[in-house]
Amino acid sequence: MSHSAARPEPAERAKVPAHVAIIMDGNGRWAKQRGLPRLEGHRRGVETVRTVTNAARELGVSMLTLYAFSVENWNRPKAEVGGLMSLLEFYLKQELKTFVKDRVRLRTIGRIDELPAGVQKHLRHTIAETAHFTDYTLVLALNYGSRTEVVDAARAYAAAVAAGKEKLNDGSWATFNRYLSSADLPDPDLIIRTSGETRLSNFLLLQGAYAELVFTPVLWPDFTKADLAAACAEYARRERRYGLTSEQVKPAATAAK
Ligand code: IPE
Ligand code: IPE
Ligand code: MG
Repeated sequence: MSHSAARPEPAERAKVPAHVAIIMDGNGRWAKQRGLPRLEGHRRGVETVRTVTNAARELGVSMLTLYAFSVENWNRPKAEVGGLMSLLEFYLKQELKTFVKDRVRLRTIGRIDELPAGVQKHLRHTIAETAHFTDYTLVLALNYGSRTEVVDAARAYAAAVAAGKEKLNDGSWATFNRYLSSADLPDPDLIIRTSGETRLSNFLLLQGAYAELVFTPVLWPDFTKADLAAACAEYARRERRYGLTSEQVKPAATAAK
């Protein structure tokens, strides 16, 4: 946009998405292109997680959610699922030191209690050790799927109503939202999917109701800071209208013209 260069700094900063969520896709194809086993693609994908976690912080993003394992991913070959779980445990073990050094708070969404015990142990430990950091949050979506999340939330909400803790006639989104696994997290501003697929695959379907979507052909192991910056730049060019007219959401100076 031509006028963006003339904008004052705070407005530019406001255009940085506060919460970026990424569907990290394409590890398998990356490996296949090189004649390598799929797990090698996942290993390289972990390297990208490190790169992108840093890059997001450097770009001024304060929350990053990464779709690491979906509810549906359990149906992959057993060896791949096992390999992914081992990688996850290894990553958590290795990363704690870096999280503490960089003041990164770790969180999760998804059915964590169905993950292998070792993974759960490292998750609980890392979450506890980083809970006091406030500037930057990394959210791992693990055993996550929007549909199971909604079913779990509906069950918990119904139980709360039955117990007299919640009024059925309240019926507001704000109330129901408190029963989602992302209850205390802000909605994503930008959802990125790598690997050229243009679908959401059961990821943050409700929370992303007004998220901007950016799809890139880059395979996750090849995704760089420059790719993240490009997606953020694309986000900055979008006008988020939330059902209003363009005139209603224009900054005051422009709207007055
Ligand atoms: C994404 O890469 C990682 C996970 C789903 C865990 P894929 O493994 O889905 O890679 P492709 O889609 O087969 O290339
Ligand atoms: C979505 O990718 C899940 C994660 C990135 C963890 P998939 O590769 O599993 O999605 P589909 O099967 O292509 O829809
Ligand atoms: Mg895939």
